[in-house]
Amino acid sequence: MYNSKIVGMGHYVPDNIVTNDDLSQLMDTNDEWIQERTGIKQRRWAVKGDGNTTFSMGLKAAEQAIKNADIDKQDIDFIVFATLSPDYYFPGPGVQIQEALGIGTVGALDVRNQCSGFVYGISVADQFIKTGMYKNVLVIGSELQSRGIDISTRGRSISVIFGDGAGAAVLSREEDPSKGILSTHLHSEGVHALELAAEAPGMGKRWVTDIIADNDPEDMSYRPYMNGQFVFKNAIRRFSEVINQGLEANGLQVSDIDMLVPHQANLRIAQFIQKKFQLRDDQVFNNIQNYGNTTAASIPIALSEACAQGKVKDGDTVVLAAFGSGFTWGSVVIKW
Ligand code: UT7
Repeated sequence: MYNSKIVGMGHYVPDNIVTNDDLSQLMDTNDEWIQERTGIKQRRWAVKGDGNTTFSMGLKAAEQAIKNADIDKQDIDFIVFATLSPDYYFPGPGVQIQEALGIGTVGALDVRNQCSGFVYGISVADQFIKTGMYKNVLVIGSELQSRGIDISTRGRSISVIFGDGAGAAVLSREEDPSKGILSTHLHSEGVHALELAAEAPGMGKRWVTDIIADNDPEDMSYRPYMNGQFVFKNAIRRFSEVINQGLEANGLQVSDIDMLVPHQANLRIAQFIQKKFQLRDDQVFNNIQNYGNTTAASIPIALSEACAQGKVKDGDTVVLAAFGSGFTWGSVVIKW
């Protein structure tokens, strides 16, 4: 058995900055409400024609991660791509990455776990490396949310939160069992599947042909829906549980955490967790203020920025935690 270790991070966001004041030109909202309820000041939204897609942003983040890992891309054995906003209904963007990197016919797996997608992806990569099957695995989280959301007042409780962007990690074999990914814990609770979901297009209820046939301007089934307060309460509960589960599995205390990188769902959620665990400001990394909630991309963008800013150092205990649609949630404990 081996361990896996994150050896390179990268991220990419579209150039186009959308401030809260910009949003107030599109819908009935304001900077005060958005900052007070979510902590978000601005987000990046791709502009039609600027070339950004979930795949292309993921590729840019991946190329940076590979460069920072200082490995030859030909040595990548497997690709994991997490997103809820793929370029195509199928196939998923993992195969687009394989082609664009030109790295031979390595496997490419697409993960559909929304906000927890990157944490699930890290866990999958870790298992493959642990068993010795693969040596280097590329894990990407990328989202282009801005095309799918309703930017009128009707969609304001969702659209002000979400942003576009991508982050990526290269995981490599680590021979020292005390280093790298120490544990991953994953959970789901499907009874709440529709509390945070986009039901269409899907083969279950409404396919594209049904939407076209009905031609109903009130049809919101293809827009994301979120029962905000219910999701908020569950997020707080599950974040706490799964962070504790990760710490306990490794015989660690809260005081051992050098850096917690929570999924950037809402700054209020991260602050609640920080307070509950009595963590100092320098023990928690948040950047939702600048990017909004980028779903599967939020943790890798944050971790990539934290690394670039020198906030994650060799030997640090780093904890990643995510919660979101599904519901799904999970944590990763890392000895950096
Ligand atoms: O990443 C996946 C996991 N996601 C999360 O964890 C998100 C969890 N939930 C949340 O972050 C929060 O519930 C929201 C930020 C989505 C909403 O905040 P809230 O404090 O729960 O507000 P609310 O939905 O209860 O709405 C309060 C009021 C409503 O007006 P009334 O009914 O009180 O008159 C809304 O219509 O705020 C109104 N509102 C807005 N007002 C201005 C909703 N969205 C907006 C808006 N601007 N953008």
